[in-house]
Parts: sequence; structure tokens; C-alpha cells
Amino acid sequence: MYINSPNTKIKDNYLYSDYTYEVTKALKNSSTDQYDLVSESKKYQLRTDLRVPRVGLMLVGWGGNNGSTLTAAIIANKNKLSWNTRRGVQHANYFGSLLLASTSKIGVDQNGEDVFVPLSKLLPMVEPNDLVIGGWDISSKNLAESMQRAQVLEPDLQRQVFDEMAKLKPLPSIYYKDFIAANQENRADNLIKETNKKDQLEIIREDIRNFKKWNGLDKVIVLWTANTERFAELIDGVNDTSENLLKSIESNHAEISASSMFAIASILENCPFINGSPQNTFVAGVLDLAYKNSVYIGGDDFKSGQTKLKSVLVDFLVNAGIKPLAITSYNHLGNNDGLNLNSPSQFRSKEISKTNVVDDMVDSNPILYNKGERPDHVVVIKYVPSVGDSKRALDEYENEIFMGGRKTISIHNTCEDSLLASPLILDLAILTELMTRIQVKQQGQTEYENFHPILTILSYMLKAPLSVGRPVNSLFKQRNAIENFFRACIGLAPTTDLIFDKMLK
Ligand SMILES: NC(=O)c1ccc[n+]([C@@H]2O[C@H](COP(=O)([O-])OP(=O)(O)OC[C@H]3O[C@@H](n4cnc5c(N)ncnc54)[C@H](O)[C@@H]3O)[C@@H](O)[C@H]2O)c1
Repeated sequence: MYINSPNTKIKDNYLYSDYTYEVTKALKNSSTDQYDLVSESKKYQLRTDLRVPRVGLMLVGWGGNNGSTLTAAIIANKNKLSWNTRRGVQHANYFGSLLLASTSKIGVDQNGEDVFVPLSKLLPMVEPNDLVIGGWDISSKNLAESMQRAQVLEPDLQRQVFDEMAKLKPLPSIYYKDFIAANQENRADNLIKETNKKDQLEIIREDIRNFKKWNGLDKVIVLWTANTERFAELIDGVNDTSENLLKSIESNHAEISASSMFAIASILENCPFINGSPQNTFVAGVLDLAYKNSVYIGGDDFKSGQTKLKSVLVDFLVNAGIKPLAITSYNHLGNNDGLNLNSPSQFRSKEISKTNVVDDMVDSNPILYNKGERPDHVVVIKYVPSVGDSKRALDEYENEIFMGGRKTISIHNTCEDSLLASPLILDLAILTELMTRIQVKQQGQTEYENFHPILTILSYMLKAPLSVGRPVNSLFKQRNAIENFFRACIGLAPTTDLIFDKMLK
């Protein structure tokens, strides 16, 4: 263990800590119009298994820009590679990963100076270089060819990892034509032969089992980083319960998407499943299956560039007492994701996931907004091949300030898409694995149990977070949730930004 905390105890490879969860109920007293505050606290014990297992990460869409970039980056980090760029020599790193490249203040030293450690060192976590990567793609190109096709990494780095990447080849996958854009069809040359969903599900399940066995893994996590699909229709009797969903697979129903098929296979194999794209993979039947099997799931849609900034900026504005009236977001990008999103029903999935991200912040301020009032929010995405993976996000925030004045903020954000998304994939995998080793017991209970199957704690990395209850979109709240949960596991109080020591005489 990196940290020795007096508030914890270690026994038989488990770290135990006590945690008191306090909630203040604010109840409006109708006769006095005042709020009565009532504090409620519940005591829990958290138990973390300190043994870090050997973990495999199976990517659906492995041969895409994200999949190939992440794989090459791990090889580069593992081998401590450096490469020439026009700006000089670059060394491999994990910049952009919350867990691997950001820090947490754990206390002060003898001189009162703050002491920071990497977030990933608060608890034992899987080292990214130890992750075994595999997965599926409808394209038969090996990972070296996929990396070349992606045009993300510098040529000198591509050259150095080429041979190792060339040995990696995605497994054949399932391809349901009308779920992704028609313009993807010429990629689809690596398909599972079976045409009915029952057999396809069995093959995917077998792929997961084989991957685990052949690589000597303790755990496998499956993550969808394949193309954005259109939304699946929600049909009673078809995908509304886990029983109906499994029956619909037996009867080869057309409305079960490929991403739901992977989620189902993963859950049935007791492997956590994460959805990095915006579509409604988690139809009610899939959620039900995850609950019944007590398997962790997380989604939807990586929060990498424009939305990440939005979830900071709107938080800042609303908390500064400034009223966003209109948020207008244009994107153009030229990678295969952009090509796929050029098709209206796939764009619609992205539009939905991008537009709901300010609701909780707006609702938190009834001085600025009447109940149910929302700023205008428009999202446009255009395909411009020549900018490749270098997505441009142009946002305009039109805001109302003091006495009816206006403040207009325009932002031009160049987001190298896959270089921003790849570290998020690592964070999602590492945090999800950690969650499988932490259990909780409420005071008075005898048994430790898992958390809710929906991993709300992954919200920081996700644009439209799948949540227990109402999603939290504010980036700093999402980050605090992760940091404070880690602190609870090592017996530290939640972080506070009260600068009390600087207020005293
Ligand atoms: N910054 C980002 O890159 C970012 C941010 C948020 C969300 N996303 C989402 O992540 C996903 C991946 O992004 P990308 O840039 O790597 O896209 P990409 O198009 O380069 O890669 C997707 C890969 O999925 C494969 N694929 C499609 N259907 C498949 C199936 N049924 N089974 C297996 N493979 C399949 C494709 O052949 C392709 O190789 C997209 O849905 C995108 O919207 C990306």
C-alpha cells in the first residue's frame, strides 16, 4: 500500500475503513416558510480487496481510432518509447487520464505544505501497462493497419510499435446494417458467420471465455468503442424485461442492437460492460439483466472534449449567478466517427447525449431560472474529411448579466479526438475493476455486499452518465465523487475547500 492510514485496518489482504454518510434533510416548514434542517447519518464499513488481479479489456470496435490509439499508447508506455516530432522528442505518457495523471491532496507536511499523490496511488489499482487488450471489429485490418488508417499518432511512433501491433487482430463481430450508418458497410469484412442472434450471442460469450482462459486472466471488462448506433426502439414484450430480451434473441428479433448484444453477452459472462457511445444500449431489458446478475455496467458516451468544457463552463456561470440563455455548439470532424455521425439517425443519438448535460446545473439555481426553464441549446455536427481526427468544437454561450446586460463567450476548441478519448477508456476500465474489489456493509448488517450495478461513479468520464437517480453533470462534482470515495476507503474525511487556516488570526 502506498498510504498508511491510521483510520483503517488490514486483515487477510483486505483493507477495512469506517465511513459515516451524512445527509442534511432541508424540510420546508409551511407555517413559518423556513427550512428545518435535520441531519441524518448512516454508518458503513468499506472493504477493499488489496490483491490487484490480472485484467483483460475487450474493446468492441478495437480497430477504430480509439481502439488502435489506446493499444499503441500502452505498447509505447510499456516499452518507455520516445519518438521524434516536429516539436522535438516526445516520451510516452498517460496525460489526460484522471487516475494516472492527476493528483489528490492527502495532507500537509511538517512545514504545512500540501502533499499530493497521484489519484491512482490512493488505493491499489491495475497498472495500465499490465492490461491485456483484445476485442472485436467488423473490419479485418490488424491493429497496425488500423493505426495507420486512423492517422492519429506520429509516424515515428507508428514505426516503432508497428510490428507488435501487426500481431494483433480483432475477432470477427456482428454487424446489424441499419443500426450504424450505411457509409460503414465497406469496412464490414470481418463478420461472425452465424446469422441468428442466439448463435451470435453464444459466440461472443465464448470469445470472452477464451480470451480469459488463453491470457490467464482473473477478470475481463468489455467496453463498446464501436460506431455510434441509432437508438433502438423500446417495444413492450421485446426489450422491456430481461426475460423478453432473451426470448427476443431466441426469435432473432431485428430491434436488438449489436451494442445490446455485447452488453448481454458480457453480463451473462459476469463481466462488467461499459458503453462509450451515445446510443441506448441499456434498454430496460439490459438494465434488468444487469440487476438480476449483479454485474456492473456504466455509460453512456465518452466525455472528452466539447461536453467536458461545457460541464465546467455552465457550472461556473450558474454558480457565479450568471444566466446562460443560449448554448450553441458546432463541431466538425473528419475521422470515421464523423463519417458515421453524418447520417441523421446516428447524429440524433449524439445530439441527445450532448444536449442534456446542463439540466442539473440549471435546476440548481431558482434565482436564475423558473421551474422547468432551460437555456436554448443547439448542437450541430458536420463531417469535414480534411481535419481528420482533429475535431473542432466552436461554442457560443450567450449569457444574461447584471441589470439585463449580456456577456457572450465564444470558444474554439481543437480536440484531438482519439488522444482525448483513449485515456478515458483507461480510467473507465481501471475504476470499474477497482469497484469489483470494494464492498460495503451497513452498520448492523452481517454481510458485505456489492454496490448498485449502475456505476454512477464513472460519471466524470461520460457525457450522458447512466446514474442511479438523477445524473450529476458538473465535472468538479463528478471528480469529487471519485476522490472522496477513494478517501472514504482509506479512512480519510471528504475533501473540503474551506480555507479555515487562512481565515484565523
Ligand atoms: N473523442 C472521441 O473520440 C469520442 C468521444 C465520445 C464518444 N466517442 C464514441 O466512441 C466511438 C468510437 O470512436 P472512434 O473515433 O474510435 O470511431 P471509429 O469509427 O474510428 O471506430 C469505431 C470502430 O468500430 C467498428 N465497429 C462498428 N460496428 C461494430 C460492431 N458491431 N462490432 C465491432 N466493431 C464495430 C468500426 O469498424 C470501427 O473500427 C464512437 O461511437 C464515438 O462516437 C468518441
